[in-house]
Amino acid sequence: MVVLVSGGAGYIGAHAVRALQSAGHTPIILDNFSTGHREFTAGFVCVEADVGDTQAVTAAVKKYGVEAAMHFASFINVSDSVHDPRSYYDNNVASGIRFISALSAAGVKKFILSSTCAVYGVLQDIRPLTENDAINPINPYASCKRMLEVVLTDYAAAYGFSSVLFRYFNASGAQADQGIGEWHEPETHLIPNILRAAMSKGKAPLKIFGNDYPTGRTDGTAVRDYIHVSDLARAHVAGMDYLREREGCFTFNLGTGNGASVLEVLQSAEKALGLRIDYEMHPRRAGDAPFLVADSSLAHKELGWRAQQSDLESIVKSAAVWEEKLATLRNRH
Ligand SMILES: NC(=O)c1ccc[n+]([C@@H]2O[C@H](COP(=O)([O-])OP(=O)(O)OC[C@H]3O[C@@H](n4cnc5c(N)ncnc54)[C@H](O)[C@@H]3O)[C@@H](O)[C@H]2O)c1
Repeated sequence: MVVLVSGGAGYIGAHAVRALQSAGHTPIILDNFSTGHREFTAGFVCVEADVGDTQAVTAAVKKYGVEAAMHFASFINVSDSVHDPRSYYDNNVASGIRFISALSAAGVKKFILSSTCAVYGVLQDIRPLTENDAINPINPYASCKRMLEVVLTDYAAAYGFSSVLFRYFNASGAQADQGIGEWHEPETHLIPNILRAAMSKGKAPLKIFGNDYPTGRTDGTAVRDYIHVSDLARAHVAGMDYLREREGCFTFNLGTGNGASVLEVLQSAEKALGLRIDYEMHPRRAGDAPFLVADSSLAHKELGWRAQQSDLESIVKSAAVWEEKLATLRNRH
């Protein structure tokens, strides 16, 4: 299939583009490069446009014969969304809806949304989350995702515009051999920040927020479900195949089911890199859940998908190779 990939110049989208191509599909990137990287689009067809630009989206669908779309394009920083919700509702919701409507009007009927486990809010429970758990977004970033989920549910019922809503847990790792990996400015995610602390050789220790969470683990640091970005990319190809045979709106969690605490991730990095990494302990941050781990059994049952590369060692090693390449790339910019 010819698949339009919004945000294909970003971290997860770039991995999906390559997974689509390996599976025999034709990806067409659509990105406005607000946070994306031209380096990630080399060798692929790329339309430089905003997802909210109806004319550009319609023209791309016609020109390339687009049959399906994946929507990664979004602002992704939770704290920015709290301080500047307008730009989040504008970019992630208003432009997102224009994108979906333009595709629908142009005859595209298959769509995959990058959603997030943040739609579940701050649970105190120490158990994996299923898709049937209560929805309670607690910041504008998560509310934006939930709004698009609702729009897509209604579009499936009214217009036969079918979609898969993927709620990712913590995307991590890289396909550094293909020149892609996590590249956010600023970087708020744990694993790149652990690696940067390691590279700083004690000058910029990792900041850890909270070691008194009730997680069922002795170290008390927050537990998350780290999923390799290549596993996420494979899920998107499986999701596309799933929509070939069905109509409707389908929601799946994407994670491993194995949580790791912040200190456990740090220890894996120390082992993988063979060195000690300094850290500082700080009080809890408002809005951080103690335990966010996926029950992905539905994705396994329906899509035949399960994480294959998401053991912490593989994740950290692949991220470390990428982080070295990234240091060179950032120096060039
Ligand atoms: N990284 C994670 O751990 C994580 C977890 C859950 C969900 N997600 C979701 O996955 C998606 C991809 O995340 P990422 O980490 O790859 O982000 P990223 O910032 O690396 O990539 C986003 C891409 O979208 C593009 N973009 C943004 N707004 C656009 C617009 N209006 N028009 C065209 N292009 C636009 C950017 O230029 C960039 O290339 C996002 O929707 C994010 O909310 C990410």
